[in-house]
Amino acid sequence: VTVYVPRDSAARSVGADAVAEAIRRAADARNLPITLVRNGSRGMLWLEPLVEVATPEGRIGYGPVAPSDVADLLAAGFLDGADHPLRLGVVDELPWLARQNRVTFTRVGIIDPISPEDYERHGGLVGLRRALDLPPSDVAAAVTESGLRGRGGAGFPAGIKWKTVLDCADALKFVCCNADEGDSGTFADRMVMEGDPFMLIEGMTIAAHAVGAREGYVYIRSEYPDAVATMRAAIAIARDRHWLGERILGSDLTFDLHVRVGAGAYICGEETSMLESLEGKRGVVRAKPPIPAIEGLFGKPTVVNNVLTLATVPVILADGAKAYQELGVERSRGTQVFQLGGNIAHGGIVETAFGVTLRELIEDYGGGTLSGRPVRTVQVGGPLGAYLPTSQFDLPMDYEAFAAAGAMLGHGGVVVFDDTVDMAAQARFAMEFCAAESCGKCTPCRVGSVRGVEVIDRIVAGEQRDENLALLEDLCELMTDGSLCAMGGLTPMPVRSAVTHFSDDFLTRGEGTA
Ligand code: NAI
Ligand code: SF4
Repeated sequence: VTVYVPRDSAARSVGADAVAEAIRRAADARNLPITLVRNGSRGMLWLEPLVEVATPEGRIGYGPVAPSDVADLLAAGFLDGADHPLRLGVVDELPWLARQNRVTFTRVGIIDPISPEDYERHGGLVGLRRALDLPPSDVAAAVTESGLRGRGGAGFPAGIKWKTVLDCADALKFVCCNADEGDSGTFADRMVMEGDPFMLIEGMTIAAHAVGAREGYVYIRSEYPDAVATMRAAIAIARDRHWLGERILGSDLTFDLHVRVGAGAYICGEETSMLESLEGKRGVVRAKPPIPAIEGLFGKPTVVNNVLTLATVPVILADGAKAYQELGVERSRGTQVFQLGGNIAHGGIVETAFGVTLRELIEDYGGGTLSGRPVRTVQVGGPLGAYLPTSQFDLPMDYEAFAAAGAMLGHGGVVVFDDTVDMAAQARFAMEFCAAESCGKCTPCRVGSVRGVEVIDRIVAGEQRDENLALLEDLCELMTDGSLCAMGGLTPMPVRSAVTHFSDDFLTRGEGTA
């Protein structure tokens, strides 16, 4: 019997290792022959540790399982998929999972992440093999045709970026994967690296072929030790199998990959400071132009893409650009991996085509708040994203629709707050976060964020409220227009949305003595 216990760090954080150990010991003591597989997580985080048992009916889930449940589960016959209060049914048929459209996350939670056999058995390497049969420009064109846009947040068409790098004549070029994933409430990159690392390696290798690069780096935040270890293990296996190195899969392609670990600065997720950090320097933002596609790592043409972008490339090559392009709405094609977090009953990964509404994500998938209180607002797109009021919950998930509403999709993080949230405090936090994480290169961000905290403090203290609100708006305009990068440039987004949609919260603490 094969038993699956996730090795994903979200599952480990709630005791998956102890559950795996308890199952192993109990099975040994009873002489039960089991194969214990440490898979990735299915992304239903409220059910972790989610234990699955392979049965003729399919994989039956039990969860959340504690080590103290194991004896009881064995006595009930869970190895045959028998009934038990923790039994959830066939995991693939659970409504939360069944209604998703998992394209990028198709193998995550299903396979053993560091088994190359499992990877190939589940469709791995098909995309790379197809790509290697095509000239580089056709590969970049296929990615353009698929409509895939940068999943880090900015949504720039990936194929056009690749074409820019391909068209550079330099002999030395690089592919860099941005795995800094600094946005609060986001964890999809981590789950890919921990749950299906070969997919990222394959995507980066396809990118290398498409642009003519021989070397690549995965820049992972130090807060992700499990992802670092899994990526390193997978890269070593891939080298052994000639999926990396010289003559990849018997072709003429030479490409090798290295992991580099960041040191905890949010700004190192900005592509140019990430490149500085990769070069061994302090993570300070570079002025653009030149864009990294033309002068990137060590001044050479460089593809910089987010984990999800690169991880989606293999399936696009395997199934064809058209299949991917057919999903989604307007100019937002394919699927997005939404990450539901904050005060939510059912948090985790929802991969679905663009066009799904916030309400569907929060109510249908998320089941409302964990506290049981009414939802008041949702912050979409990380700490620099807007706070949306419930009146905007029918907004479709679409880059342009969000931009038109003064918001952004970003990296797909959706953080829910109930009616106890203090929006003036949230606005203050945005400025405080910017002050703490600013690289210090430009004045609107470095100084503006500190002044922003002070002015919000004066507003909530009731000091000359109207003047200070006007001053805050003036400061937001200056930071938006005058900052060198998105850190200072987008900090006004959460602040302004809080002031616009939740103005009452800026009145509550003072006496209104303006
Ligand atoms: P950007 O719009 O300046 O650039 C987007 C990408 O397109 C960059 O890689 C840029 O080099 C490239 N590009 C632009 N013009 C090009 C051209 N003509 N040819 C080829 N490539 C071109 O946006 P930026 O500053 O890179 O990212 C901002 C976004 O980052 C925000 O919208 C936010 O959503 C997101 N973000 C994500 C975080 C995360 O943790 N994933 C954290 C903070 C922000
Ligand atoms: Fe640095 Fe902030 Fe200026 Fe970006 S906006 S370059 S983080 S000081």
